[in-house]
Amino acid sequence: MSLKFKTPAKINLGLHISGKRQDGFHELETLFQMVDLFDEVEVESTPGDIRVFCDHPEIPDGPENLAYRSAKILKDHCPGDYSGVTIKIKKRIPAGGGLGGGSGNAAGVLLALNLLWNLKLSRTQLMDFASQLGSDIPFFLFGACALGRGRGERLSHLQPSKKFNVILINPRFPISTPWVYSQLNLKLTKGENNISILQKFFSQSDISNVGAHLTNDLEPVVIKRFPEIQHIKNRLSALGSRGSLLSGSGSTVFGIFDDPQMAEAAYEKLRDEKWDLFNTQTVGSLTELYPKEMIDFPE
Ligand code: C5P
Repeated sequence: MSLKFKTPAKINLGLHISGKRQDGFHELETLFQMVDLFDEVEVESTPGDIRVFCDHPEIPDGPENLAYRSAKILKDHCPGDYSGVTIKIKKRIPAGGGLGGGSGNAAGVLLALNLLWNLKLSRTQLMDFASQLGSDIPFFLFGACALGRGRGERLSHLQPSKKFNVILINPRFPISTPWVYSQLNLKLTKGENNISILQKFFSQSDISNVGAHLTNDLEPVVIKRFPEIQHIKNRLSALGSRGSLLSGSGSTVFGIFDDPQMAEAAYEKLRDEKWDLFNTQTVGSLTELYPKEMIDFPE
């Protein structure tokens, strides 16, 4: 039996770091939003072991791959006699780009195997496995927009705003998340937290004010080392974006637009640049992504 589905990218409309924890992770508050740039994933229950095939040459296909680790954690922790699994991934989402592509793949594999292996795990149990695999993975089981606290894994639902356009620009170099966190000056980030005001405008679908209040404490660190990020932001504002920001720890910058025609015009103007470019829309609900039976489980 096999399942074929697509897993989305995410952006962080806001990301505030409040401190460093004993376990080395940072305590944060973030507003996650899924967008309709997708990887394609196929999960097939097969005899033998866990096998991952990915069409991206730089993405590992062994135990370092998050999708592999999703299958492994279920195999190791759920009683039962499972056969192997073959996971095929077609990458569209840039890797190392702050868009959570690998985290989305991992979450999709958890959902698919819960169904294919008939594990009957609840959303809470799946989210617990997800948070052991990575801070952003629970969000992809929870979607499609949410407030994340703790490491980013403690989630609360947000009412989706009306859909809006998001242009993603990836400068074609990856950025290491641990490196970005290691460069943070916590004295500078501990102050103001604008996530609640951003959340207010988001819930009112006031895209213009969402744009004006985009905030990411990781952005200054990345701009200092990679000035091209600031250049991309300047290009987006000159082309009419309501606001632009680094997504997560980068390297992707996004610009938000409340007028689809302006987004399309900006996209056309940016096409000559040496960047990877995507004109996307926000996702409203998980039901837009996964087959119904994959997300039909107890809370
Ligand atoms: O959880 P994940 O594997 O995505 O985290 C990757 C790295 O990002 C961690 O090893 C850590 O360096 C950093 N991180 C952090 N605080 C968070 C999330 C990630 O310091 N809340």
